[in-house]
Amino acid sequence: MTPKINNEVKQLQLSGIRQFFNRIQGIDDMISLTIGQPDFATPEHIKKAAIQAIQNNYTSYTHNAGFLELREAISHFMKIKYELEYNPANEIIVTNGASQAIDTALRTVLNPGDEVLLPSPVYPGYAPIISQCGAKAVFVNTTNLNFKLTADLLRDHLTPATSCIILPYPSNPTGVSLDKTELQAIADLAVQHDLIVIADEIYSELVYDQPHVSIGTMIKDRTIVINGLSKSHAMTGWRIGVLLAPEWLAKECIKVHQYNVSCASSVSQMAAFAAYTAGINDAFPMREEYAKRRAITGQHLRRLGFRTIEPDGAFYFLAGIPSSLSSFDFAVKAAEEARVGMVPGTAFDPNGEGFVRISYACSQDSLNEAFSRLELFLQK
Ligand SMILES: Cc1ncc(COP(=O)(O)O)c(C=O)c1O
Repeated sequence: MTPKINNEVKQLQLSGIRQFFNRIQGIDDMISLTIGQPDFATPEHIKKAAIQAIQNNYTSYTHNAGFLELREAISHFMKIKYELEYNPANEIIVTNGASQAIDTALRTVLNPGDEVLLPSPVYPGYAPIISQCGAKAVFVNTTNLNFKLTADLLRDHLTPATSCIILPYPSNPTGVSLDKTELQAIADLAVQHDLIVIADEIYSELVYDQPHVSIGTMIKDRTIVINGLSKSHAMTGWRIGVLLAPEWLAKECIKVHQYNVSCASSVSQMAAFAAYTAGINDAFPMREEYAKRRAITGQHLRRLGFRTIEPDGAFYFLAGIPSSLSSFDFAVKAAEEARVGMVPGTAFDPNGEGFVRISYACSQDSLNEAFSRLELFLQK
């Protein structure tokens, strides 16, 4: 039989992170600084709300966009946290994690031939969807600007085909964020060139020094904001994301969402209601702990000669390696010889060469032990 596979799907590669994990699997007693999710348990009151939902048979389909009281709670949360104004009736969609919100947003706005600008190195979840839409991901290298995406850099990459900018801040893998002035310059550019902005703000509750600013407060009419509970409430497995868009865009997004998944899990939605009401500040104690780990990790990295750019948020450093090896070889060697796992920067895209991503979503003891091992490894 001729394999009947969509051409774009055929071209997709296993993610670089997966390839790396396949390579290092089976190494005993490894400390993994590769983790892309919180190492905390979901708060108890959220788990109880889900158990109650099951016991009360809250197990049917909900409204496609999520049940209304949940959308009202999300609207309130986004208002008091980030001054975002979204109408729960028609501007908020509850999705299966931020991942599905990203998928829905891109499939809603992109046409074949469109170009999408995104900072690089960047989370690898966007480009495969862009290409499945027949559009093109244009990576804007931020490595010479301390991983800051600027309006000027973006301007250099504009073409008549540019239709959209992805703004993932705070960033995975760099931890870097953008402040109000930097965002305003990008907002002005988006207006000037009639671009849509997709702002992936999944780490917005995990910022350490400055409050999170959303570009949705500046140019709501052309922005899709993506958020969710995976990182803020240690709920990656519950699959709750949020898509916020002005009514004219949300009413198109809901079609894509509806035909794709109908709705997010009803039980998880009940858990999300608890998170967005009683659990409004659940991220705070986790954030405090991450801040301590950020300090420990930064000190160790600098002591061992890694080049660091202080992350503003999330739980990652993208650190320059103190070695002439490629990122991939360095990370494999560190895993095999020091038994410390780090993600090679090239897992994000070619501009990640020379860097490794180090996650501090693990205990302080694990961090200290991992860096002791790395110290011995580097001495060799
Ligand atoms: C920047 C970014 N966006 C989206 C996601 C996906 O989030 P979710 O698990 O809610 O789908 C991740 C997960 O690591 C991420 O780092």
